[in-house]
Amino acid sequence: MNLQTIDQTYVMPTYKRNYTNFVKGDNATLWDDAQQHYIDFTSGIGVCSVGHANARVATAIAQQAQKILHISNLYVIEPQAKLAQAINALYDQKVKCFFANSGAEANEGAIKIARKYGEKDGVPKRYKIITLDHSFHGRTISALKATGQPDMHTYFGPFPDGFVYAKDIDAIESLIDEHTVAVMIELVQGEGGVEAQDKAKVQALAKLCKARNVLLIVDEVQTGVYRTGEFTASQTYGIKPDVITLAKGLGGGVPIGAILTPLDVLHGGDHGSTFGGNYLVTSAALEVLSILKEAYDAKRIDQLARAFDAHVEALLVKFPAIFTKHVGIGLIQGLRVNPDIPVANVIAKAHAHYLLVLKAGRNTLRFLPALTMTEDEMSQGFARLESALFDL
Ligand SMILES: Cc1ncc(COP(=O)(O)O)c(C=O)c1O
Repeated sequence: MNLQTIDQTYVMPTYKRNYTNFVKGDNATLWDDAQQHYIDFTSGIGVCSVGHANARVATAIAQQAQKILHISNLYVIEPQAKLAQAINALYDQKVKCFFANSGAEANEGAIKIARKYGEKDGVPKRYKIITLDHSFHGRTISALKATGQPDMHTYFGPFPDGFVYAKDIDAIESLIDEHTVAVMIELVQGEGGVEAQDKAKVQALAKLCKARNVLLIVDEVQTGVYRTGEFTASQTYGIKPDVITLAKGLGGGVPIGAILTPLDVLHGGDHGSTFGGNYLVTSAALEVLSILKEAYDAKRIDQLARAFDAHVEALLVKFPAIFTKHVGIGLIQGLRVNPDIPVANVIAKAHAHYLLVLKAGRNTLRFLPALTMTEDEMSQGFARLESALFDL
């Protein structure tokens, strides 16, 4: 059986898959099993923040694997404690961290924090969480229900109660009632179409939440860890939310999620995870943060973001029949595609020109490059995209 047949025979068909077999990577370059090389503008959907096969992360993982990978959260875990400390050094308010294994799990924990906060915070009990239309918070039952996309709620019920959807950030205030405990938003909706919220409106929302004693939870699973320029998108937006969730870019490819909060809500027995924050993932994440802090301090992330932005803008100008708008900030960028052109066709054509790109929402071409991408990789990638677009 070839690889495709094995996959289709034994793996659940939950993903629409491309069957290129990637066998090796180096920063933002990938090779398939026929030694063809590709430029990667996706970084594994925002995960490989320091690129593929990063030598420092590989060494950190190998060295840790030779010592100890897992002991359980019944014991102190040195790289876990140091990762929480490192996060505090990068963030601008003191927070405690809980480590999970994915974005959805981090959001589940954030929802639990809000629900418990609502329990103890007076009568009547507050439990409602307002989220936005077109949001995406994950695939577990509560994170899915928090996701403001009704077509994702077709099966799998009954869902937990208490999620309310606002059509946009302006509509949140009118939905707050005596049962509302939290608002949960992405500052740039990733899956929803690379939709960046307006900074002034986000700051006004943060003030409103404070005034109404409603928690502000910011889902930074996709935007966190320097993707928007600062360590968190909340810092880019100049707000201090009550809870932030991180995942994707934090581990550089190992599965990790994190909840950051200054609140003292969860205590012994309230939450847990067998694998969460083990030696493997937290030693990798510590190295990722150290690499990215160096890149940030040397202004390399900022320079890359500006150069990438200029390339995307040039495409908008050059292909007015294909693209209608340039969206996103930092290194989460996108181009709205003319509704008559299926984004899947653009992605397939880019792939045929050996470039990996992503879709977001209904008609957005999305770019989530590694934050360490070289100038050469970037210009090669855009040259391939241009050829693909001429060939569309
Ligand atoms: C904003 C946001 N939240 C949550 C998730 C879910 O993360 P995971 O797939 O790691 O559970 C994603 C994944 O794309 C995301 O973009």
